Amino acid sequence: MKALVLSGGAGTRLRPITHTSAKQLVPVANKPVLFYGLEAIAEAGITEVGIIVGDTAEEIREAVGDGSRFGLDVTYIPQAEPLGLAHAVLIARDFLGDDDFVMYLGDNFIVGGIAGLVEEFRADRPEAQILLTRVPNPTAFGVAELDGDGRVVALEEKPKRPKSDLALVGVYLFTPAVHEAVRSIQPSWRGELEITHAIQWLIDQRRDVRSTTIRGYWKDTGNVTDMLEVNRTVLETVEPSVEGADVDDDSEIIGRVRIEAGAKVTGSRIVGPVIIGAGSVISGAYVGPFTSIAQNCRIEDSEIEYSIVLQGASIAGVRRVEASLIGHDVEVTPAPRSPSAHRLVLGDHSKVQISS
Ligand code: TTP
Repeated sequence: MKALVLSGGAGTRLRPITHTSAKQLVPVANKPVLFYGLEAIAEAGITEVGIIVGDTAEEIREAVGDGSRFGLDVTYIPQAEPLGLAHAVLIARDFLGDDDFVMYLGDNFIVGGIAGLVEEFRADRPEAQILLTRVPNPTAFGVAELDGDGRVVALEEKPKRPKSDLALVGVYLFTPAVHEAVRSIQPSWRGELEITHAIQWLIDQRRDVRSTTIRGYWKDTGNVTDMLEVNRTVLETVEPSVEGADVDDDSEIIGRVRIEAGAKVTGSRIVGPVIIGAGSVISGAYVGPFTSIAQNCRIEDSEIEYSIVLQGASIAGVRRVEASLIGHDVEVTPAPRSPSAHRLVLGDHSKVQISS
């Protein structure tokens, strides 16, 4: 059995971060979200992994390498344009051969891994097996309709009137039967080959399509709100440690706080769950719950909580930063008091809230 991990895509919902970086590499508790998926695949006993890459191919290759660090053997499959999840299967045909495979969306986060699911699929070998979870707002997802035996009878993408509250999670299991399906479907109105259409094609051909409903935690980290929420959940499990970090006596560390070796904290108050990466300097600052600060950041004379700060960013003299995703090497400073005007240098599609 192989794995196909999707790490291309446009990432429009995470702009402007995704103008320059891969969304699959945004860190959750200082580890790229993609790495959690690769670890789950390795844990399920799969070693041969194809990674679909797009515009951010270089960055993904640099981060993952040949996969040996995860116990995986990685093959990169370039996708010239993000033409859909089923298109990714189409172009991975040579890599996948006639093997069964698990398709994993590289920006999805699943607690509890996929080992049980893969085992169940191996034992029963339906033509396709999808993963579902109950959501309060099914209109925002791909939604499945099941019959009395739990077999999938229909899939609908973002339905106006959903027939259930069971949303598709970003992990799919397939036998080679899916190859005929992805060759048989047409692009949708948004110009993509949709995996839901390929699965619907299998259903229409009376193939065996089953589902498993997970109770564990799942999030698509495609937008900032979900990203921060996943970060919160993972930080709650972080092992507290300040070993090798330089924390002065004027600082107060409260709760579940992990400060990596080589980080420096002076005159600051840190209230966990928090993680601070190596080489970061926190001085005269308050770092509040559910905050991840990556490596080589500087937080000075500032307050921050419920946020993710990527490597090399600095925040100085800013009274309160909350629910924020700060890209790498960003500089955040206070606006000059007078004249009272905002001076902005913002990337395309930025969203900024300013109290005036
Ligand atoms: P999506 O989040 O559905 O799509 P996207 O990355 O284009 O993002 P947005 O909606 O914000 O524009 O993609 C799910 C995962 O699959 C993600 O890791 C990107 C990847 N992907 C590909 O590798 N190739 C593709 O053609 C598409 C559509 C997605």
